[in-house]
Amino acid sequence: MVNEPGKTTDNTDKQGITRRRFIIGTMIVAIIGAFGSLLSLLKVLSPSKKGSGYVSTIEPGDLLVYASGSNIGMEIKASSFNVGDAELVYPKGKSSNPANLVQLIKLNESDFKAPTDIQYTDKGFVAYSAICTHLGCTVSWVKNTGSPDASYTECFCHNSTFNPARGELVEGGPAPIPLAQIGVKVNDDDTLAFTSDFKGPIGPQV
Ligand code: FES
Repeated sequence: MVNEPGKTTDNTDKQGITRRRFIIGTMIVAIIGAFGSLLSLLKVLSPSKKGSGYVSTIEPGDLLVYASGSNIGMEIKASSFNVGDAELVYPKGKSSNPANLVQLIKLNESDFKAPTDIQYTDKGFVAYSAICTHLGCTVSWVKNTGSPDASYTECFCHNSTFNPARGELVEGGPAPIPLAQIGVKVNDDDTLAFTSDFKGPIGPQV
């Protein structure tokens, strides 16, 4: 069939317009996709914001339970600790909030020095936030078996070290502030309970 003069031109124009719209649409989708990927990349690369939403729900009277290991969820017993021991603990029934993660440590009472708040310790037990103040990794306990008093806290993400006898002051690495202390006491039945909320900011502080 032979097209009338002019009709061929109309079809060609319509096809051209359709093609242009398709190309423009594809470009828009590609640009939006690239922008989304860029935002995701920036989110991964950018450092954590101060606190990063870490809000503790620990209340005085909450019992301490193991946060890891074969005893996870069981109540801590004071008599099972020796000087130089430490455990990651949660307040009983509140383990779903990572801001509640605490490191419980036993030292010689005579070793405590400022800025450790002695009133927040009991029978050599002292407790601090277990969330590193650099970028929020969970800290670890480095036990010195030969000299338990020389044991210390370290964050292996970027090797920040903290002094537990001196209020977890930062002794090395990029952590900007100490790990916040929280009050603990030994109950008559050998369990331990919190006596306060954290005394300072918790979570990343950069
Ligand atoms: S997150 Fe702990 S040292 Fe960086």
